Amino acid sequence: MKIAPSLLSADFLRLQKDIEFLNRNADLAHLDIMDGCLVPNISFGFSVVDALKDELTVPMDAHLMIVHPERWFERFAAAGVSFLSFHLEASGRNTAAFIEKIHSLGMKAGVAVNPDIPVRKLFKFIGQADYFLIMSVFAGFGGQKFIYESLDRVASLKEELIRRGDRAEIEVDGGVGPSNAAALRQAGADILVAGNAIFKAEDPESAVRALREA
Ligand code: DX5
Ligand code: ZN
Repeated sequence: MKIAPSLLSADFLRLQKDIEFLNRNADLAHLDIMDGCLVPNISFGFSVVDALKDELTVPMDAHLMIVHPERWFERFAAAGVSFLSFHLEASGRNTAAFIEKIHSLGMKAGVAVNPDIPVRKLFKFIGQADYFLIMSVFAGFGGQKFIYESLDRVASLKEELIRRGDRAEIEVDGGVGPSNAAALRQAGADILVAGNAIFKAEDPESAVRALREA
């Protein structure tokens, strides 16, 4: 599995140190963008993302937890983001058009859903989206407890992808750690996002390794 450490749990006073850590250990750098409207929290914006552009050697994976994500697609492309996901709760009927727009800007497109959105609502975008982001906690904060039912959601999406012969990846985000990584792999996860399980670990490097090899 690929590992995408979530910068939300990094040490913002010593970001350089955590960027070097990401460059050495991560497959993707997961950036949580929150607007205080779609989710009950505000994170960081372009002052951080632009600064990361020249420092990160691993691709940036931006997870937009914002209303009207389409207003910012070009700006994230300019910031050097390679993987861009938005929430189905924010895109509604425009989802297919948003995916197309992200593609036209040269980025991989992901569709994210919170735990209360039936996973079958994603099936319509199989064949178009490059990846699906299954939230295993309600989006907004790091350090929450993994919702166990997420395993079934991942498995049913995987089953549908296989049935249709589609190669879209499944990214899982929220409460991911050593106690659920193996089960997530078995359920069909391709990319694990982890914040606290990596940055708050005693040995973050071996935490990444353990998740990758779960
Ligand atoms: C939550 C974010 C996550 C968060 C994960 O809304 O989307 O990416 O940083 O943090 P942990 O792994 O600590 O749950
Ligand atoms: Zn995230």
